[in-house]
Amino acid sequence: MKVGIIGSGGREHALCEALKKSSKISEIYCIPGNAGTNSIAENVDLNISDFEKLKSFIIKKKIEIVIIGPEKPLVEGIEDFFQKNNIKVFGPNKIAAQLEGSKIFTKKLCEKYKIPTAKFGIFENFKQSLHFFNDCIYPIVIKADGLASGKGVYICEDKNASVEAAKEIFGGKFGKAKNILIEEFLKGEEMSFFIISDGKTYKTFGTAQDHKRALEGDVGKNTGGMGAYSPSRLENEDLNEKILNRIIDPTLKGLNDLGTKFKGFLYAGLMIVDNEPFLIEYNVRMGDPECQTILPKLKSDFGEIIDACVNEKLHLLKLDWSNDKSLCIVLCSKGYPEKYANDIEIKNLKNISLNHDEFVFHAGTQEKNSKIYSNGGRVLNFVIKSKEFKKSRERAIQLINEVDWENGFFRRDIGHKVIG
Ligand code: AMP
Ligand code: GLY
Repeated sequence: MKVGIIGSGGREHALCEALKKSSKISEIYCIPGNAGTNSIAENVDLNISDFEKLKSFIIKKKIEIVIIGPEKPLVEGIEDFFQKNNIKVFGPNKIAAQLEGSKIFTKKLCEKYKIPTAKFGIFENFKQSLHFFNDCIYPIVIKADGLASGKGVYICEDKNASVEAAKEIFGGKFGKAKNILIEEFLKGEEMSFFIISDGKTYKTFGTAQDHKRALEGDVGKNTGGMGAYSPSRLENEDLNEKILNRIIDPTLKGLNDLGTKFKGFLYAGLMIVDNEPFLIEYNVRMGDPECQTILPKLKSDFGEIIDACVNEKLHLLKLDWSNDKSLCIVLCSKGYPEKYANDIEIKNLKNISLNHDEFVFHAGTQEKNSKIYSNGGRVLNFVIKSKEFKKSRERAIQLINEVDWENGFFRRDIGHKVIG
């Protein structure tokens, strides 16, 4: 079977790697891909928002299933477009993708189906929110409604910060804003929780803890993710049941009641407060770097799982996982998540030798004349699977230290809560 993957990050490289091992998959195309996917798949330089061009290519190459990595094309309705053209897609349709595309859509769903989440209010203009800022209890969390690559969330300690946040959002920093969302601040520990669904049934797909802040000790700017470990240290059976019963099942019922269903990966970003789960946000895709961290633990044939999902046969499979501890460190360009330079050669990557259970997934990289150059904020992901998180981290750092690249930085404390 021929499969296509849309996207160009570490997540997509990890997806390619998992599919490479599949007995079902004969050829992989990655659109547009990076210097890492290049060695497994055929990279195809197409604009992922140009659905017509994607369709022509997919039909020409007789690609049978397309896996959508990032959220943007899903929110823009790529599933609906491909489905209409008889192309099988792994990923949710436009209505279901609202779970990530509109925080207000998700909050309203939580309200209707009594899904535990932070208390919230929806404010339609600046004046109305100002009233609220005058006599609320701080801190509060202010959010833009639509997609903002993780940047549209402000944790505000006082009125001044809140006013600034509201001004920025209503001022159009994240696109035209009809409303803002204001939430109660939840104090707990975060957990990324995943399921995979074919629309009829679903299976859990691992947990992880991401490290979103740029600097060690969880300080600095929010990023797309500086590293992760799996499983989350918070995982236990009781919590698992609460998450499924109180959050996942009512969400899927809510989508059913809207006349639709969820196919693909669903990622619940949770805050765990005294072993009680609260939904912070949904993403309608795999996490990045959670995907790179979790997928190497999958023992079942990933191609078979994807094939089952697009054919509503997931109930026939049993997913098999390794009990190992997986940890990922992201090597970034200096300056990320703000300004950084691109196009700096990473000199000796091809000479770094990896043992079994060790992976270097490319994210922001590009190959030119057989040389590898940086091409983004998050550049390489070092993932190690072993019996202990501490060992995984030590080995990842050792490998990073072997890389001859002058513009990198990374966090040495990934997994600090579980390693100590
Ligand atoms: P989101 O994009 O909604 O996941 O928010 C980004 C980050 O902001 C989350 O990963 C949390 O660290 C933090 N956050 C969002 N909402 C809340 C909340 N209600 N209480 C505490 N922290 C929050
Ligand atoms: N790791 C956070 C995300 O994928 O959104």
